[in-house]
Parts: sequence; C-alpha cells; structure tokens
Amino acid sequence: MIHLRCSDQKCATTLELHERAVACPRCHDLLEIAYSPCPLDPLDLRARWQRRRGSHDVRDRSGVWRFREFLPDVYAPENIVTLQEGNVPVLPGWRSAAFGGLKSVQFKHLGWNPTGCFKDVGMTVGMTEAKHVGAKVVGCASTGNTAGSLAAYAARAGIAARVYLPKGAVSLAKLAQSLEHGAEVVEIDGNFDKALADLLATASGELYFLNSISPFRVEGQKTVIFELLDQLDWQPPDFIVLPGGNLGNTAAFGKALEELKAAGLIQQVPRLVVVQAEGANPLARMWREGRSEIEPVENPTTAATAIRIGAPRSWKKAIRALRFTNGLALDVTDEEIAEAKSIIGRDGIGCEPASATTLAGIRKLASAGTIDKDASVVAILTGHLLKDPDYILKNLHAKAEDRAAGEIPARNSARGPQSVAGVHRNGHEDKIEISVPGSIANLGPGLDTLAVAVQLYLNVCAKRMHGLNELSFEFKGFELKGRNSIERAFRHLAAKHSPTFPSLKIEVSSDIPLCSGLGSSAAATVAGLRLYDAVAAPCSIDELLNVACELEGHPDNATAALLGGLTTSCQLSAGSVVATTTEWPEEIGFVVLTPKLALETSASRQVLPHDVSRADAVFNAQRVALLLQAIHTHQYSLLKEAMCDRWHQPFRRSLVPGLEKALALEHPDLVGVCLSGAGPSIVALAEKNLQAIASLLSQCYAPLEIPYRIHLLRAHPPCGRLDGHVALIGQGVEPPEEFRHLTTIPVAR
Ligand code: F0G
Repeated sequence: MIHLRCSDQKCATTLELHERAVACPRCHDLLEIAYSPCPLDPLDLRARWQRRRGSHDVRDRSGVWRFREFLPDVYAPENIVTLQEGNVPVLPGWRSAAFGGLKSVQFKHLGWNPTGCFKDVGMTVGMTEAKHVGAKVVGCASTGNTAGSLAAYAARAGIAARVYLPKGAVSLAKLAQSLEHGAEVVEIDGNFDKALADLLATASGELYFLNSISPFRVEGQKTVIFELLDQLDWQPPDFIVLPGGNLGNTAAFGKALEELKAAGLIQQVPRLVVVQAEGANPLARMWREGRSEIEPVENPTTAATAIRIGAPRSWKKAIRALRFTNGLALDVTDEEIAEAKSIIGRDGIGCEPASATTLAGIRKLASAGTIDKDASVVAILTGHLLKDPDYILKNLHAKAEDRAAGEIPARNSARGPQSVAGVHRNGHEDKIEISVPGSIANLGPGLDTLAVAVQLYLNVCAKRMHGLNELSFEFKGFELKGRNSIERAFRHLAAKHSPTFPSLKIEVSSDIPLCSGLGSSAAATVAGLRLYDAVAAPCSIDELLNVACELEGHPDNATAALLGGLTTSCQLSAGSVVATTTEWPEEIGFVVLTPKLALETSASRQVLPHDVSRADAVFNAQRVALLLQAIHTHQYSLLKEAMCDRWHQPFRRSLVPGLEKALALEHPDLVGVCLSGAGPSIVALAEKNLQAIASLLSQCYAPLEIPYRIHLLRAHPPCGRLDGHVALIGQGVEPPEEFRHLTTIPVAR
C-alpha cells in the first residue's frame, strides 16, 4: 500500500497517492509518501540492486529507479521520465581531507547528474508523477538549479515549464539552462522565499508544483543515500555532510535512513550534518539556540546563491532527520565557503559554492573535536563547478585587485614576529617575514634522528612585485656560494601545487653559519616552503615536513627547522617521515664553537662506515633512548653518558680538528659535548657557567690556529604550545591544534 500521509506523525492524515497536494488539508504540514513495510530480505535487496547495474532496462540504468522497492513504483517503464540520473561517483579528496583536519574525506558528487546538480534525482520521480496525472504545466520557484532540472525533465516529458527566479540573483549558467530547455522564465522582484510564497499563493490549479516540498521529489532524492551505501558496500559512514537551503535534501536523506534502518539494510545510522551559509542560516540558528520553531532570516545574504534561502519550507522534516540521525546543523561564513571551494577544486573535483559549505563545515567540526580525525565522512557535493562560473571569475578579479594594490595575500598567523618559522605580516600586509631557526643535529648518538632548534635564524622578507612567477633574491650580510635552497624549495612546491604565484623580491639575512652543521640549508629549505605556503597555496604540515626532509636528504635539521623544539624524526619503511617535537629544558643552554672550516655534509658522510657492529648499534640505541628519557625526567647528570656515540663522531675526528679534545673536556657544569650534525661545529651543553665553558672550548682551539666563532645559545621552542607534551606529526596524524592552524590556514587567494 502506497499513499500520501501528513508528515506530522501525530496528525498522520492520509490521502490517495496521486492527489495533487503538497500540504496536509487538516494541519497544513507537508505531505510525504508512506509505504507498507518492505517484506524483502535485506541481502536479497542488496544483491538485486547490484544485479541491476548490469541491466539495460531503462529503470535499472537510472541510479534512482534502480532502487524502486522504496519508490512509488506504480508507473509503466515507458512512462518514466528519466535522463539516467544518479550513478554518480564517490571520490576521495586528499587535499580536502588535510584541509578539513581529517584522515580522509569522500565526496559524493551529485553535480555529475545530467543537469549538473542533485535536483535531477528528485525530478525524475516528480516529473513522472506530473506526467502520470496529466499535468499540462509544471513550475517551481528556484535559486536556479531546480529550474534548470525542471526545464530539462519537462522537455523530456513534453510538458510546458514555468520557473520563478529571483531577479538578478541567479547564476547566468543556471538561467541559461532553463532557457535552453524551453522553460518560461518569470523573474520575481525579491528573493527565493518571496518567489516561492508568491507562487504558492497565486498560481492557478493548472500548474503542477515541483519544488522540493513535492513528496515525489523527496522520494527520488532519497536514493542518493541508497546509492551511496551501495557504493560503500553497506558500511555506513560516521557522518554525511550536506548543504542546507530549503532543506528538501535533508528531509529526503533523513527519510531514506529511517526506511533503510526499518528494513534492516543498515544497523548503524550515520549522523547528518547540515551546513548553511552564515547569512542564510535559520536552521543552524534554531539548532544552536535550541528553539523549537524556526525563525526565518528576513533578508538572506550569501554569495552561495543556491542556498540564499531564509524561510526553508521543509524545516520540520529536516529537524526530524537531525533527531533521527543524532545529527546537527551549523553555519559557515562566505570566506570559509570560498576557501573550502578552492581546496575542492585543487583536488580536481570542483563544485559550486553551496556545495563547499560541506568541507567548510567539516573543518569547523573537526577543529572543535566534534568530528574525530579518524571518522569516516562523506560530503555531498550538490552542484557542478560550472554551475556558477561568475563566482570563480569574481573571486579571481578580487584577487587581481589585491595584487594590483601590491598586497601579498597571506594566511592569518597566530604567531608573533618572534616565533619559530613564524610567518609575520606587517600592518600594511605588503610584505611577509619568515624566520626559521638553525639546529643542532644528532646530539651525539641520534644520527639522522635527533635535533634541537636553536636561536640562530635565517630571516626572509618577501615583497610582492608586479607580474607573476618571478623570484628575485638579495642576500644581506653574506654571500650565497652553493645552491639557493629557498628558491629550490619554493619552486618544488609550485611545481606540485599551482605553478602561478605572485612575483616576489626576497631579502635574506642569516646568523646561521653556512656549512657548519647548524642546519643553515634546512632552514633555507623550510623558509622556501613556508613562503610558498603563505603566498601561493596552503600545504598541510605533513606535506611540508615530508618535502623538507626529502629535499634535505636527511630529516633531522629539516624537522627542527620546521617544528622547533627538541625533535625526533623517523623515516617509515614506506618512505614518509613521522616526527615529534617537545620542549627542550629551558635550563640547559648551548655553547657552540664553529671553526672556520667549510665542511660539506656529503664529504662528512663519506667518512662514515657502511655497516656498524651489533655492539655499536646497541650502544647508540641505548643512548638515544636514555637521552630522551633523561631530558623528559630532568635527570641531566645522565646526559654526559647519553650523548656518547659510536656511529659517526669517531669517524669524523679526522675531518674536525679539535673534536677529540673537545669531547674529552671536563668541567663540573658541563652536561655533555657533541659534534653538531655533520660538523664542524662543536656543541657543549651546560646548565650554568656557559662563559667558563666557552673559554674551555676555545682553549682546545687556540693552539690549532683555525679561526672560530663561539655562540652562546638557547633552544628555540616548538612552534605550537605543548605544555610539556609531545606533538606527533606525519602520516596523517593530526598535530595539536596550534600546529595545525599555523600551517593549514589557507591563504585568501
Ligand atoms: N546545493 C545546491 C547546489 C542547491 O541548488 C540547493 C538548493 C541546495 C544545495 C540546498 O538544497 O534546498 O534541498 O536544502 N537549490 C534550490 C533551487 C533551492 O531552487 O535550485 P535544499
């Protein structure tokens, strides 16, 4: 038995299926289609739906009618009005996942329907019913998409179409669709809500309504969830996130999940998350404020014109969907939508602005901890990228104006100018300053593993110039001899992401001695990456870490330059790097002696033996572990032993005169001595009396007649606040909040 029923479960008035009504004659709530419980076995149903994918029956070719056991399946196949809608893919978005703060995110792209939006999956059922009841004219009010879809399906059915559009507020591409398919376009002075209200109040009985309040359209839109679960082998995701406008889709998805649960096709119900634009957010507000009635937004505003709706008609059904699925509603700003949209575009997927509310909402919920980073999340993209090219062009135009004004667009940075690897913009936002710390690597036993960032900096100040893609460098106070690692890193990311970036004039100064084992090259590489990330395309911290380590060829200095603090780096068997950072004890300072000997890392690596004995391997592994524990437990008296090494220092003695003597130094305040990185800098650690230890070290060097410099240094802290904790970064492991914000807030390009 199939019939129409009032969607108010208390009223539950029923009507005959083909009655031309959208609202209950008794209580005026919207109608829905009710079925007798499905008698079929869930496994049989699943197999049946799978089989139909290979069939040529017109109903089976449609991604809607394939699921006809849950539709008003009362029409002869030849009377079904279809364009083979549905059948749209589920696509992973890697950049989107990183942007959203999740390990993975999947997009179900309803924009790949015949008219480029989700409306088609409802329209096939709505138009089939309209034809069945002999409608001569079909109509709708629309922000553009429903109109285009209605026009196309009406053309297929041979029924006249009339669409009511808010004047001047519909994308040209959508308007063009309605015109191409021969619909009569009525422009309304006012917004969508007014267009719909006028239409409902004034249209004569000859017009068959096909807005999403039509219970038949809701039935078709339900199948999005059926097809999605079929594609996911009936493993429901944790969250399904969709944009909210008139809330027809939300109503449809909720109904689908209710029916699937009742039929035993799913046990676990995914949580529905409805995302609205901040300027058109009646549902989000109602949800946030815990009210029981919706309060319309008088003058809805958002650049996502598809969802510029202030008085959604299906709100009660939507609330029922949210309650049934333990869902939630929220809003996002137009800026957040624009950012998310550009990221979806960078995944090669693309969508219209309304659809990008999903990723913006995911990012908000993930950063609030509502969505766990490991959660399985499907975002519903409702419209195709080409539905609103104006929006893209307007944004590009705005960016071009920014450029003409000489501004470098840069992301917000919570960091001050003092911070590590900090991106700092001046008040006029016409330049970007980046400081990246040098580092002491290995700390004795931890070859290619341990490093600590120190207060020696490479400073970059970039100014935007006219034109694109040119980088000009000026080195202040030093001469660059080898390759320009800043430029190499910048261009490496440009080749990977977007080759277009504003031309920059870059001034570089540095107090990290070059070729001295203090991470000058890693600092330059990280500066180049940070600069690209700030001016051109945002990158995840995971990506920056991996690219920095790859370019440097060894991960220790690069990790410290990027993350600050005491770092560990681990190259996983699969190749990618996982790193940690934690605070270095404030009380331990460094005396760093840098002899004036240019020692290339490659030369210093050549002297190392290929194999180490088991005894030496065990010796060093024990000391790395002890060193970390001694730091964590503040047992600094253990550091002297923990910093002993048999892997590299003994072999580098020949290259670094004075190293042997320095390693043997004795002083009551001396905590430990090591070679920094590949040398030739030598580092002594002490809690106090740094000056006295500096004199001891210089005594080792004076007789050698090699010029040297001594720096007394402190460690540079991790770039996010850790409060004694360890931050783990890499392999999609989510770093603490601050790290994430510092590195993944995208540039307003
Ligand atoms: N996304 C797109 C691309 C849309 O066109 C719409 C609605 C929505 C999301 C919101 O869906 O109304 O079911 O909550 N567009 C309608 C139209 C209003 O007239 O095209 P909803």
